Amino acid sequence: MKKIITFGTFDVFHVGHIRLLQRAAALGNHLIVGVSSDALNKSKKGRFPIYSERDRLEIIAGLACVDKVFVEHSLEEKAEYIKKYKADILVMGDDWKGRFDEFNSYCEVIYMTRTPSISTTEIIEVVKSVPNH
Ligand code: CTP
Repeated sequence: MKKIITFGTFDVFHVGHIRLLQRAAALGNHLIVGVSSDALNKSKKGRFPIYSERDRLEIIAGLACVDKVFVEHSLEEKAEYIKKYKADILVMGDDWKGRFDEFNSYCEVIYMTRTPSISTTEIIEVVKSVPNH
């Protein structure tokens, strides 16, 4: 059994998210996803997510490629989560390239290429800019 762990907010779920999760899942046979809490997202990105933490968890848990979800409350606890879930591989998007190398002592760390031209932030900006909405 090869276990993969990844983390993210996954707000306003989009194709970049599903591609990342499907590629992560393909590296092993058990995908665990830490979904950022609303408070963590506020501290990380300066705003609360559009979708609540409960809804984001439900969406991720409902995906065929995902086996387990949990709420990530603190960025400082990644090592504890990796150990707790006995992950063999940590997957992060390459926007984080190099910043998680310290976890190499617990598991393999793989950075995956992001899907170009899409992000939650951009979707929110586009929706805000549509007149009469
Ligand atoms: N991701 C990706 N390709 C994208 C957008 C996100 O592969 N175009 C990946 C990220 O690298 C991360 C995961 O999806 O591993 C969750 O990313 P998240 O930060 O929740 O999504 P973003 O769309 O990047 O959100 P934001 O714009 O708020 O930063």
